[in-house]
Amino acid sequence: MTENPPDNVNLADEDGDNESSNPSPHPSLARVIELRLSRREALGGLLASVAAAGVSGIPGGPSNLFAATTSSSKRDASTLTFEEIDRTLTPHHRVSPGYRADVLIRWGDRVFADAPEFDPLDLDPSAQARQFGYNNDYIAFMPLPRGSDSSSHGLLCVSHEYTNARLMFARFTHRLELTERQAAVEMMAHGQTIIEIALESGVWKTVPGGKYNRRITPLTPMTISGPAAGHPRMQTTDDPTGRLCLGTLNNCAGGVTPWGTVLITEENFNYYFVGDRSKTPEADHLKRYGIPSTLYSWGNYHERFQLEKEPHEANRFGWVVEIDPYDPESVPVKRTALGRFKHEGATVVVNHDGRVVVYSGDDQRYEYVYKFVSNGIYDAESPEANRRLLDDGILYVAKFIEDGTCEWMPLVWGQGPLTPENGFHSQADVLIAARQASDRLEATPMDRPEDVEPNPVTGKVYIMLTKNPRRTEEQIDTANPRAVNRFGHIIELEPPEVPESQITERGPGPDHAATTFKWNIFLQAGDPEQPEHEAVYHPDVSRHGWLVNPDNAAFDNKGRLWISTDQGEFQPQNNIADGMWATDTQGEGRALTKMFFACPVGAEMCGPCFTPDGTTMFLAVQHPGEGNWEKPSTFASPLTRWPDFQDGVPPRPSVVAVRRDDGGEIGG
Ligand code: FEO
Ligand code: CA
Ligand code: CA
Repeated sequence: MTENPPDNVNLADEDGDNESSNPSPHPSLARVIELRLSRREALGGLLASVAAAGVSGIPGGPSNLFAATTSSSKRDASTLTFEEIDRTLTPHHRVSPGYRADVLIRWGDRVFADAPEFDPLDLDPSAQARQFGYNNDYIAFMPLPRGSDSSSHGLLCVSHEYTNARLMFARFTHRLELTERQAAVEMMAHGQTIIEIALESGVWKTVPGGKYNRRITPLTPMTISGPAAGHPRMQTTDDPTGRLCLGTLNNCAGGVTPWGTVLITEENFNYYFVGDRSKTPEADHLKRYGIPSTLYSWGNYHERFQLEKEPHEANRFGWVVEIDPYDPESVPVKRTALGRFKHEGATVVVNHDGRVVVYSGDDQRYEYVYKFVSNGIYDAESPEANRRLLDDGILYVAKFIEDGTCEWMPLVWGQGPLTPENGFHSQADVLIAARQASDRLEATPMDRPEDVEPNPVTGKVYIMLTKNPRRTEEQIDTANPRAVNRFGHIIELEPPEVPESQITERGPGPDHAATTFKWNIFLQAGDPEQPEHEAVYHPDVSRHGWLVNPDNAAFDNKGRLWISTDQGEFQPQNNIADGMWATDTQGEGRALTKMFFACPVGAEMCGPCFTPDGTTMFLAVQHPGEGNWEKPSTFASPLTRWPDFQDGVPPRPSVVAVRRDDGGEIGG
């Protein structure tokens, strides 16, 4: 079954890939009943909202469902003082009253002073290589000067996850039949943009002449480091060393290190390869990674994307890439110690003992949650030594246990089943095939792990599980408690406090390196008024406040959780906007989500990122105007022309800067 999805499927959404799911375990019926009964316990202190009579079916439905506002007295429990907006799907973006949301940079805008003007009728690869890329996803704000905590001047580092040829090109037949020039434009629209920005009179502006400005693309030279570097499975015709690689693909969410670098990730890299894997020595492994799952025509023009010609090229993608945004000449590095899978993000926390911990989800149905723990210690005084921290450490994968604990199991060659009898001949094999190594350890298959985000105030860690409509009743477990999970949920992990005997001069704190955490379900998304959704929130959540399909996350300085959503192919059916929601994670307002920002039709929300002082939030509006097979959207006739609204100009993925009218902290 290697059928390609329809050519207008949402490429950001893994549900377009029908083949590569992990075959997941099937508990017995008695076991299912037991799990069902224990679910209430797993939900911790949360109360399921009582179902109200009324509208049935999917969330959204008739627009009058959202006409009424809940009484304001219900909001008192939340520390978030912004006024909620409604979730209506419109061609525009909208933000809470008292805030402004200005478009800062759009696909095709200049990144360099000499870049050509955007011309949607004549897209050119060399122009695109000097302009802002397509489908902005992760955003990091890196203050200028380096090491400062400036909130008015910095570098905006933005990942460009994928392209939508149907909306980009005036002349389009099928995305597997693009011309060489169109394919080259697509390629140059991927990767990363680094651009200087400055706040002037309360409004953010890009600085196209900035000396740090840079575009990174699938053609940018990179090095490969860590245990898999140089391994024969990483070697290709062009790179017999296995240590040099051209570019990065499908950069989704990411992270920032305390030493001032940015981690970008490689998510759905399987979409770029073509050919017959059965004719390669990597057939089983490629199958487990869903390769090929061809959605791009690049393989028509580049042999390295042809599996039969270069069976190892795909092994050089699926990693976390470290970039130094403050050095435009620096060579990005693929850090193989962090494992190879469809990384959604890579969020970094310095542990109480100075070790560096990186959390990451593998965003596909029935895939796993990982963390990396460095062997070395972060030392603010040793910038060069810090550059090697992500090459040496232990990668762990999570198993969620019904008693409310989570075991982090080490992916270490030679330990347990990770031995030559099972096909693992080195640590490189374990990392290249991290999914298969995790299968052997019987990690818990999750409902599409997206961002895994540590709360800097409380030390707890939040996993966005966006959805898994294919999970069956037989496959539910306490950490993935709903069959046909269309709306997703959020798990809260609690690392143990460091024991007194192990407290270092850095002081006490949560032990992110521990191998046993506690966990509970923070919320179950969906409409609390629809009993069949089995949604679970704070009971006061309003008609606008519930959400579906959590994807990315960020914390403000008060430790409040900001959640972005991505309904994927269900948005037209749900008929509600994606956007930003926010909630307290503790106290009386816990899990009382409120809607803050709405995306235009077709878009998902990515990249929530605060300036250090919390007065600006940058948001990435990804794939505005994207349709699905039921609701096509094309260059000539898009669902919206956001943000330009000019005839002949297609929708343009853009970064938006949100500020309060009075310049105060976002969220209040
Ligand atoms: Fe690229 Fe998992 O969203
Ligand atoms: Ca995402
Ligand atoms: Ca997404």
